[in-house]
Amino acid sequence: SNPSLLILPGDGIGQEVMAQVRRIVEWYGDKRGLKFDVEEDLVGGAAYDAHGTPLHDDTMAKAQEADAVLLGAVGGPAYDDLDFSVKPERGLLRLRKEMDLFANLRPAQCFDALADFSSLKRDIVSGLDIMIVRELTSGSYFGEPRGIFEENGQRVGINTQRYTEAEIDRVARSAFELARRRNNRVVSMEKANVMESGILWREVVEAVHKADYADVELSHMYADNGAMQLVRAPKQFDVILTDNLFGDILSDCAAMLTGSLGMLPSASLGAPMENGRPKALYEPVHGSAPDIAGQGKANPCACILSFAMALRYSFDQGDEATRLETAVQQVLADGVRTGDLMQADDAQPVSTAQMGDAILA
Ligand code: NAI
Ligand code: MG
Repeated sequence: SNPSLLILPGDGIGQEVMAQVRRIVEWYGDKRGLKFDVEEDLVGGAAYDAHGTPLHDDTMAKAQEADAVLLGAVGGPAYDDLDFSVKPERGLLRLRKEMDLFANLRPAQCFDALADFSSLKRDIVSGLDIMIVRELTSGSYFGEPRGIFEENGQRVGINTQRYTEAEIDRVARSAFELARRRNNRVVSMEKANVMESGILWREVVEAVHKADYADVELSHMYADNGAMQLVRAPKQFDVILTDNLFGDILSDCAAMLTGSLGMLPSASLGAPMENGRPKALYEPVHGSAPDIAGQGKANPCACILSFAMALRYSFDQGDEATRLETAVQQVLADGVRTGDLMQADDAQPVSTAQMGDAILA
């Protein structure tokens, strides 16, 4: 049977950009013989409007079954005053939590045509293609004890950086698997010089490497040096493996190497399912953009590139993923731009659908 794809457009521009992805998914079925069983459902505000909850149990069950989930964006001003328990974001958080998506993949890819949007000089970023694998479900943001406590007559704020061997092991495996689908190189970042969790991190990554991924080139770097290297010479990296806290900071830093929010895809992966594919949720980094929603102005590339990631990392279709990324790159090189990719003296912006047309062509 065909691999299954659950599409959750969500709110605002999520619906507009996902409409273009649907056309591309159909194109793959018609033109490349790559057919998917596609189901579409509601998430976020759209689900709240229909069911009074940002994620219906049936949708959650479908997500657990699907070979990959593709999400647009959730949220918007209409839902800002809702109770916290039914806010649109809760739908997304529930998906991530119940699917146990522990590896967050944030690529930083700089297409030559957009190099001038980067915060750095063109030479440093042009052709950049790196992937940050951030542990997403443990570490400083979750470790106990945490809280604000009284101590000797003053308050003390506490978070605990805590990683078990199993948590490090599984995210390391995700990074090595990815590296094999890319350029076979992993740099693991921690602070083993000053942190116990960093020492364990390095040991476990070494052990996983030795046991099962000796074909992948592995090196280690202190995370502070990593931040510096990302800005100094980012092209030295392929896959960067790091924890939740360092990954949060390093991935935002890397995102600005490439320029526009409308171009940034992401993926969150969990444990392998029975068919060997990891549980997976693919989504653009951007939100529902209420300021331009419903106007046909949104850039669909981030969502389209998220589907390219699904092709590569869920469906083992690396060549087809490259085909799609190359099409996006070509369209940009031809000067086809949505409004967010325009500089002052550029030509007229194209619409969301026209961007889809150009990529399909
Ligand atoms: P946003 O990412 O929606 O928008 C930030 C700015 O970037 C806006 O000016 C927007 O027009 C522009 N922008 C974003 N994506 C674009 C695209 N594809 N093409 C062209 N321009 C684009 O972030 P903001 O404004 O902070 O949040 C808006 C809503 O989205 C909120 O309700 C927020 O909670 C939600 N949100 C949802 C996320 C998700 O679903 N994963 C992530 C971030 C925010
Ligand atoms: Mg962040």
